[in-house]
Amino acid sequence: MSKKQAIIIGATGAAGQNIVEFTADHPWFEIGCLSASERSHGKSYRDATAKAVFFREVPKEEVMEMKVIGADHVDPRDYDVAFSALPTEIAKVQEAKFAKHIPVISTASAYRYEADTPVLLPDVNPTHISMIEGQRANRGWNGYIVPGPNCTTIGLVSTLKPLLDKYGVDVVSMVSMQSLSGAGEKGLRADSEYRINALKNVIPLIGGEEEKVFMETNKILGDMVDGKLIDASINIHSTCTRVDVKIVHTEAIHLGLGKAASAGEVKATFEGYRSEAQEQKLPSVAEQPIIVVDEEDGPQPKKHGDYPKMVTLVGRLRENPLFNNGISYVITSDNLEKGAGGGAVLSAEYLQVKGFL
Ligand SMILES: NC(=O)c1ccc[n+]([C@@H]2O[C@H](COP(=O)([O-])OP(=O)(O)OC[C@H]3O[C@@H](n4cnc5c(N)ncnc54)[C@H](OP(=O)(O)O)[C@@H]3O)[C@@H](O)[C@H]2O)c1
Repeated sequence: MSKKQAIIIGATGAAGQNIVEFTADHPWFEIGCLSASERSHGKSYRDATAKAVFFREVPKEEVMEMKVIGADHVDPRDYDVAFSALPTEIAKVQEAKFAKHIPVISTASAYRYEADTPVLLPDVNPTHISMIEGQRANRGWNGYIVPGPNCTTIGLVSTLKPLLDKYGVDVVSMVSMQSLSGAGEKGLRADSEYRINALKNVIPLIGGEEEKVFMETNKILGDMVDGKLIDASINIHSTCTRVDVKIVHTEAIHLGLGKAASAGEVKATFEGYRSEAQEQKLPSVAEQPIIVVDEEDGPQPKKHGDYPKMVTLVGRLRENPLFNNGISYVITSDNLEKGAGGGAVLSAEYLQVKGFL
């Protein structure tokens, strides 16, 4: 099987760099073009990423030496698939331009809330890809746009899904402690005002984030009924904060299940959860998507990377007397990996095995 030619738009930013890490040596995809803004046009990928480096493993030399091309200079028809990691307002225009011709797998929120667009997490809501044909027909596109969830929503829904399936979930309260890289380049660039203010600090507001968590969680956990997506109806309240951590988001979650379960039963439910993405043995999927850590003071963002890629870590699992059938736990989730680049690549893998690429 020849590899699909991929263009990565927004390749120089935080999420884009992670897509590059996941595709640089991918068995099914080959990087055909690295694209970004006019500011990066003509620079080597190494120089264009030097302002804020997010790589865990620096990609191979031939990728670092590729010339970055401004998004307005590329023809989508030269590629089989586009990965987009653009700021939302730019994504709105560029992704539609690409989707006229080829599939676009996106980390941006530009199309997440459109009625004909799935927000895909292959190990949570794989059936939502049935919305793609409707989207194509509505918009007259040869391609389509499939965004992934916001990086904060991903960890939350990954753990809610097995609980919803087994016990039901009525109410969720969540407080996030989100890393600086979640703010993108401005979160890590040394002279960024946002970064300077956030150092040794906690900022108790991330504009628009709590609304995203609410809308996306109920959309992702919704059911396809007669070809239509019916959102879930979980009562969710969240407080999203920025903390002085480089990578990996932490979330404290308190919830009320639909029926009683002990902390031990919930642990077994988390550890036993598998989806079609695991059955398909997709190249980027975690064999066990949720790991309950043994350490009583875990999980911690600093130690998240000690575990396999693309997992959600759970700890502090206990019963919560304040809620009906209450359960509390803490998660860590890598905002750049499962939360952005790795998640986008996993979606592309799932779409490929389903014949959509
Ligand atoms: N960071 C995360 O943890 C995370 C997680 C999930 C989703 N997301 C989403 O992913 C998207 C990218 O976020 P990020 O954090 O990676 O942002 P970022 O670090 O600021 O990177 C933005 C990227 O977009 C490019 N860009 C900016 N303006 C452009 C234009 N006019 N035309 C073409 N390219 C342009 C930049 O290129 P230059 O380098 O040339 O400026 C850069 O490659 C956002 O929609 C964000 O909400 C981010």
